Parts: sequence; structure tokens; C-alpha cells
Amino acid sequence: MSSNISPQEYDQFKLFLEQACGIVLGEGKQYLITSRLTRLLRDEGMATIAELLSAIQRNSPRHLRDSVIDAMTTNETSWFRDRIPFECLEKSVFPEMEQDGKRQCRIWSSACSSGQEPYTISITASEYTKAVITSGFNHAQIVATDISASMLLEAKRAEYDESILGRGLSAERKQQFFKANGERWQVVDDIKRRVSFREQNLLSSYDALGKFDIIFCRNVLIYFSPERKSDILNRMAKSLNPGGYLFLGASETITGYSDAFKMVRSPQGVFYRRKD
Ligand SMILES: C[S@@+](CC[C@H](N)C(=O)[O-])C[C@H]1O[C@@H](n2cnc3c(N)ncnc32)[C@H](O)[C@@H]1O
Repeated sequence: MSSNISPQEYDQFKLFLEQACGIVLGEGKQYLITSRLTRLLRDEGMATIAELLSAIQRNSPRHLRDSVIDAMTTNETSWFRDRIPFECLEKSVFPEMEQDGKRQCRIWSSACSSGQEPYTISITASEYTKAVITSGFNHAQIVATDISASMLLEAKRAEYDESILGRGLSAERKQQFFKANGERWQVVDDIKRRVSFREQNLLSSYDALGKFDIIFCRNVLIYFSPERKSDILNRMAKSLNPGGYLFLGASETITGYSDAFKMVRSPQGVFYRRKD
């Protein structure tokens, strides 16, 4: 691939990416396009970014758009990422919901990447119900979505390398919630059965997903423009039941983007609740 991207091509590519998935490429990020798309261009037998742009505009081949989005998104994730949201779930949110008389809840993991986030939520729900003997809170249903079909495939497979398991998972949890499958480790059925996966672009309507009690929207809004952040957060508020909870990534905030939530400072850390 020619590493020369003209200013016009760069602008056109930025526009395509922002409109297709919300990701804003800042100034001077031409190298990101080169490094992330070289392989795709080679596989498609294309030589330049101009050729790619024109193929995307013609929508031919049809899979190309998705492949470009796939290549340009960051899929970085880990087990119990940032720890605090899962402690908040176990120590504050689940007990509070139970006190309110709820016996089950629907949770949306809205940019689930390769599955670590929804399976971590499922492990947390499992640990909570086992630890609290008197708990009648016995059913958490987790809907995990992502824009990337390849990430969703990996997430559904629920099978991980040792090195991936090492990122955030304790030896005890590995023994309890995974079973060996050759060189790899498979999430046990008890954890898998709570989680269902589907493709969802955060820029599109959420109506078909139904209502949730808790939404995880972590480490994805950072890539979007302020307008997109506001729009997504306000639409997520509508997808929550009254008083429903929202978790953002450690470096993300609601301040300045949505008035639909109030901040909750629990002993474990910060999360948000939909205003009624
Ligand atoms: C950095 S990962 C975050 C994974 C997980 N939430 C976490 O915090 O570990 C970001 C994910 O957002 C997804 N993504 C990017 N743009 C999206 C969009 N417009 N709609 C849905 N998912 C998107 C990517 O495919 C990627 O899997």
C-alpha cells in the first residue's frame, strides 16, 4: 500500500469512518490508516487508499465497509477491567436492586469486544448469588453487543488462550469458571448461559433491544465526538428502566454530555443512575 494519503483522501476517509461508526480520527493520524489497513488492502488486491475509498463508495465488494470498520476499531479489553465497576455491581447495585424487590435484571454490555466484559459481569452475578445465601436474586440476563462481527464471533466462541486469561483473571476464578480444552480455556456453561450476543452499531436505534436495568458502555465513547456522546448517552437513558444504572470507562464521564443521569458515589467507586 502506498503510504501517501492526500489531504482530500484523508478527509474523505475521516468522514466515512465518523458516519459509519462514530470514530473520530484526529489530525495527523494518516499512519493509523496505513498501519491498520495494509493487510486488508493486500487481501483485497488494492494498492492505494484512493482505490479503497472508491470501492467503499460503490459499496463493492459489500463486505469491505465492515472490514474497514473492523480494522479501524480498537478491541482492547480484559477480565474485570478497572475492577471498580464489578465491585460496585456486587457490593452496591445488586444488593440495592434486591432491596427494591427485584429478582432478576437485564444488563447490556454495549461494546463487548471479544467477550471479557459480559462474561465478567456473568461471573460477578454468579459470585454474588453464591455469596449471599439469602439472595433471591437469581437471574441476570446479559445482552452483549458490538459493531464488529469478528469480535462477536470470538466472544460467542468463549474460548481463550492462557495469555488472554492472564489479563485480569485470578487463578481461583480460572479454576472455577473455565475448563481446559487442549491449549485453550472454555468459559463454563453456567457463566455462558446468561449471555446472548448480537450485532449493534451504537449510532443506530436501540429500540429492538428492549429495556435494561444496567448498561455498561465502557471505553468506546472516548473515540466519539461530543455530539455523538450526548446522543448515545441520552438514548441509553431511554433504554434504561427508571432508576437504572450506567457504567462508563475509567477515563469517561457524563459531565457536559447528558442531564439524564445523576452520579452515585458508592464506597467502591462512581457510577450513574437514570433520573426518574
Ligand atoms: C476498546 S473496546 C472496549 C471493550 C469493553 N467495553 C471494555 O471496556 O473492555 C471498544 C469496542 O467498541 C466497539 N465499537 C466501536 N465503535 C462502535 C460502534 N459504533 N458501535 C458499537 N460498537 C463499537 C469496537 O468494535 C470494540 O470492540
